[in-house]
Amino acid sequence: MKLVKTLLAASVAMIAVPTMAYEAGDIMVKAGVINVNPKDDNLNLGGGTKVQVEDDTQLGLTLTYMVTPHIGVEVLAATPFKHSATIDGDRIGTTQHLPPTVSVQYYPLSASGSEWQPYVGLGVNHTFFYDEKGALDTLKGLDRSWGLAYSAGLNYHIDDNWMANVAVWKVDIDAELRAVGKDVEIDPLVIMVGAGYKF
Ligand code: NI
Repeated sequence: MKLVKTLLAASVAMIAVPTMAYEAGDIMVKAGVINVNPKDDNLNLGGGTKVQVEDDTQLGLTLTYMVTPHIGVEVLAATPFKHSATIDGDRIGTTQHLPPTVSVQYYPLSASGSEWQPYVGLGVNHTFFYDEKGALDTLKGLDRSWGLAYSAGLNYHIDDNWMANVAVWKVDIDAELRAVGKDVEIDPLVIMVGAGYKF
């Protein structure tokens, strides 16, 4: 009887063991629409004069490599963003930038096998500006920026491979406006909505 009980317990345990949603070595590729929305009041020039950097939407791409079932490394890339800068509402120029970001992510529910897979991440962002036009060009443009990126996201698995995804990054981007010698604090909220595939 004891053996039967043990066998029963073992078989129940086997049924109850969920399949891993993610395994070490998994690669996820996601593509979608990505919006970079700078915070308000990016640079105060004094006397109530404020520089504002406007938002932009592009095509975003993320690549995730699962180091363990719970830990992933993600690279965020996108087609170049083009932002207008305004002073008190008047457009003073445009700049393009690329903000590649590498993050370490934690997936708390990976072992549950749930189709809902949330994650949080902490990473490093490098933003470099180019092709500056108008006053931004005259002012010798914006210096490149290194900063932290805090992120969170959710994968919804339609099956083992395909998923829908929404992701948010808060990125610390402080770029010096060279001629003025002051930082433009862009610190955008970045939101991507898309679909992905796990290999
Ligand atoms: Ni900042």
